[in-house]
Order: sequence, then C-alpha cells, then structure tokens
Amino acid sequence: MSSYQIRPTPGDIRWFRHDRFGMFIHMGLYSLPARHEWIKNREKTPEAKYDLYLKYFNPDLYDPQDWARRAKAAGMKYAVFTTKHHEGFCMFDSQYTDYKCTNTPAGRDLVREYVDAFRAQGLRVGFYYSVIDWHHPQFPIDMLHPRRDDPDAFQQSKGRDVRVYAQYMRDQVTELLTHYGKIDILWFDFSYPERVPEPGKEWMKGKGKEDWESEKLIQLARKLQPGIIIDNRADVEQDLWTPEQYQPIQWLRHPNTGELVNWEACQTFSGSWGYYRDEMTWKSPEMLIRMLVNTVALGGNLLMNVGPTARGYLDKRACDALGVYENWMKYNSRSIYGCTMAEPELLPTCPPDCRYTQSEDGKRLYIHLFAYPFAHLQIQGLAGKVEYAQFLHDGSEILFTEGKVDHFSVGASQASGLFVLELPPVKPDTLVPVIELFLK
Ligand code: GLC
Repeated sequence: MSSYQIRPTPGDIRWFRHDRFGMFIHMGLYSLPARHEWIKNREKTPEAKYDLYLKYFNPDLYDPQDWARRAKAAGMKYAVFTTKHHEGFCMFDSQYTDYKCTNTPAGRDLVREYVDAFRAQGLRVGFYYSVIDWHHPQFPIDMLHPRRDDPDAFQQSKGRDVRVYAQYMRDQVTELLTHYGKIDILWFDFSYPERVPEPGKEWMKGKGKEDWESEKLIQLARKLQPGIIIDNRADVEQDLWTPEQYQPIQWLRHPNTGELVNWEACQTFSGSWGYYRDEMTWKSPEMLIRMLVNTVALGGNLLMNVGPTARGYLDKRACDALGVYENWMKYNSRSIYGCTMAEPELLPTCPPDCRYTQSEDGKRLYIHLFAYPFAHLQIQGLAGKVEYAQFLHDGSEILFTEGKVDHFSVGASQASGLFVLELPPVKPDTLVPVIELFLK
C-alpha cells in the first residue's frame, strides 16, 4: 500500500484519486467574442453591448455527446462544466434569473444535455459554479467588476446587498444539486478577500467567504449531495486544492500542518479557458503528456480544459490535443489510474529525465522516459527489488542486469545496488515510453 497519509477530507475522494484525469469545459456567452472568458472584465463591456451575445447565442452544433466520447477516448474519467461563469450567464434553466440559455436561440437547458451525455459514457459529472457574478444586480462592484472604472461606479454599487446575492447562489446551487441526479464534483470559483483596492477606491474591496456565506453554501451542498467533492475556491478548505495554469514541483502540503493534501491542477490547451479563436499558444503533444505524468508523479489529478466554439463543437485544435491523450492513454493508462507518487525510499533512485509513478498497492513501478537514453537505463538502488520488466505500450520484455556493469569495454565491474535495463536503440513509437517494473 502507498505509504502516504493525506489530510482527511469532508467528501469521499477515493474514486477521484484513482481516476486522476478529467475534462474541464468552459462555455458561455464569452464563447461568441472568442477572445477570453474574462472579456467583460478586460474590455469593460457595457451591459447593452454584452446583451448582443445573449441575443445571438445559438450553439446549433452543441454536441456534448461528442465531447463525452472524446473525453472517454482520451482516458478522462470525469468532467466539470461551467454552469455559470463570472459573466453570470446560466447554462441551465434556473427559475431565479432570466439570464439563461433557455432565453436565447438555444432555447433549452444545456446543462441537462451535458449531464446526460457524460453519464451515458460512464463518466462522472461535475459542475463549475462561479461565485463571482458580473451581471447580478445585487453583486457589489469591486476591482474585478466590468463597471469598476465607470465615473458613477460608486453610485451604481450603492445599495447593492451581497446577502441577497448569497441567497441567490444558495437557490441556484439547490437547483443544480437537485435537478440533475448524482453530481460528483462542485467546483466554486473564486475568492479574493485579500485583494487591495486602488487608493481612493477603498469601498471596492475583494470578496471571500463572508460575502458568499460559504459555510452555509457548502453545508447546503453537502446536505443535498452527501459525498460530493468540493474545491477550495469558496474560501473554505474542502476536499481539493486547485493550482491553476501552474505545475507544482512537489506534492502540495497544507500551509499550517504540513500534511499532504489532495490536489488537482487545472490546465488549458492554449492559455485561455473559453474558446479563443486567435490564441496561438497551443501546447505541444509532448508537453501535454508530460503534464499529466508530472501531475500523477506528485500525487495529483489533472483537469484539462476544452473551450467549445460558440456553435457548440470542439474545434480541430482541441480534438487534435485530445487525440494526443487518446493515443498515449490507450496503451499507457496503467501508469496513471490508481497510481501516485512513488514511495519515499524509491524516489531518490529515479534517473535523470525520468518520472516515476507507482500503483497504490505498491506492486508496480512505472518509469516514464522524458528523454530516451542510449542502450541502457542505469538505476542506482533498484537492484534486488524487481521481478520482471516490460515496456507498457506493447508488453515486451526488457532484460536487465543487477549489481554490475556487464560490458566488455568497462569490464565486469561490481556496482552494488545498480539495476541496468537494456533498451532498444530506437525509441518506441509512443510520445513518452513507459517501463513497467513488477516489484518483488
Ligand atoms: C479562474 C478564472 C477562470 C477560469 C478558472 C479555471 O480563476 O477566473 O476564468 O474559469 O479559474 O480554473
């Protein structure tokens, strides 16, 4: 068994730790301008202009079944879908607002179709819900709000009551957690209580758990869906720590107690979460696979994002990127599912340019070759521990020697603890080859 003790969580994280890999999906009105989901903030878009996106929101090729098939093929086991992003637009038929997809040419509940499609593929279903809301009339204007620089911002914000908004969130979370069957993850986003307003604008303070009434909100969610997994972004520690667009180099620890925590890195294919037509920084295939491996090698999960187009389909770039995972996971997923960081005594043996993962039961050790070495992979400290070795992608045996370097040019010099794998000169045709070691 893996010897790592993880800080206890209120929700049941067992399936989550096993599954390791999920799909994040960002879609909303911002998919139309197609230049970042924060567009309303960035361009300080007036409400009347933003309403054009509402008027023309028509995802006629909306096809969550296709997304779900592709997610499953890519080896993803769960998904998290934006039911409402910071712009405030609801992708579900909420009775508490008119600002929703049923009042657009889409004319139907898009969350429902997402839930049905992903469940039908056997994937777990999560909801992203933004606690920030740039449309709700009771959401006080702050330094992130699109109206922040209006000359009359103070007047506009005066009298707004965040408690009314907090109730609105409880009402909507109730809808989301009662109308769609079992929901596996609730992903709130995000809090900024420590943000310092500009001088002269002190009234624009940041927002956190006091504003959202997070304790109440979370209690409600847990009552409606016992066992649900909740992230930490409502400003209250829950099940998940959520590094974003950033790859940890160590297993995350609790800042006060030092305990290992359960973490999920969320990442994009191209820098933006919503569909961004002109974004050109798409990650290379190698980088995509490495990010997944690096994450699991440090005991974490990866939530990889797609941003469907305004018409509701995944564009070629997104499909290609998912295809990269599909091709690799088809043969190598055994080093991902049910795996975690290698045991502490094995970690120092990891050779340069490699990453280890280890099955939770401790019996299998996986070596991911980020750079392909010539002829031999020499590992100090593994001799005597391995029963059998093979490439994971094709199950072909890899011969090894132990305790010595056995080569005519160096002589048969003894090297206690040395474990040497004999590799073919040509890198196997898989982006990141994986060696599977069955331990004694
Ligand atoms: C954020 C952003 C956002 C994105 C997200 C995903 O903090 O505000 O646009 O939805 O996190 O992690």
